[in-house]
Amino acid sequence: MNIAIIGAGNVGGALGGSWARAGHRISFGVRDPAAEKTRALLASAGASTSAALPAEAARGAEVVVLATPWDATEAALAAAGDLHGKVLVDCTNPLKFTPGVGLELALGFNESGGERVAGWAAGARVVKAFNTYGWENFANPRYPNAAELKPVMFLAGDAAAAKATVGQLATDIGFEPFDAGALRAARELEPLALIWIRRAFSGARNPHFTWARLTR
Ligand SMILES: NC(=O)c1ccc[n+]([C@@H]2O[C@H](COP(=O)([O-])OP(=O)(O)OC[C@H]3O[C@@H](n4cnc5c(N)ncnc54)[C@H](OP(=O)(O)O)[C@@H]3O)[C@@H](O)[C@H]2O)c1
Repeated sequence: MNIAIIGAGNVGGALGGSWARAGHRISFGVRDPAAEKTRALLASAGASTSAALPAEAARGAEVVVLATPWDATEAALAAAGDLHGKVLVDCTNPLKFTPGVGLELALGFNESGGERVAGWAAGARVVKAFNTYGWENFANPRYPNAAELKPVMFLAGDAAAAKATVGQLATDIGFEPFDAGALRAARELEPLALIWIRRAFSGARNPHFTWARLTR
């Protein structure tokens, strides 16, 4: 599959490397395709990866992945051009830093970042995913103590076919898709990211953990 990743930082770089190893073609949509850090990323991510300006990267892709800081997301989407009909994977979290409180959601309860993204990206089929864990788990989703269990990847979106596509992309890099419901359920997935962040960066500071589903 041709995948454009807008934002080639921690999340974009980790997902791009993992999907490239799984056989997908990756075009990173970046503001400076010739930058040294972009060249270093391409060298480590492999031959099936390239970099271009966001609109050029998105043009040739069936799936566009959004991995930008929340404050930059509206502008990044505008720079990505027409996304009508494309699957748009929203990995962002609408976080803000409040002195005395720390990281918290910039919006919630009656809206979500995922829904706001859908409003900004006319005609795109938005799926919220890859937002509830740190990038370390996208780079390597293998856990020696988990036996047969796979980490789950929560998905929220209104278009069933788009959600199935993103579920397959999650499966391709070692996750078990978990359908959290319509895009509105991004209101539940975004606070879930905060639970992960607080746990990962307190105490022993271990970002190498995810949620899994136990059933009987
Ligand atoms: N960090 C995590 O583990 C994690 C996990 C799940 C979800 N998230 C969410 O994922 C998003 C990205 O996080 P991150 O840690 O990957 O951030 P990051 O390392 O800071 O990378 C952000 C990327 O976005 C690019 N960017 C910024 N403004 C842009 C614009 N206007 N147009 C195009 N690209 C732009 C930056 O490019 P330049 O180099 O040009 O500035 C950079 O490559 C955030 O919303 C975060 O909340 C993060």
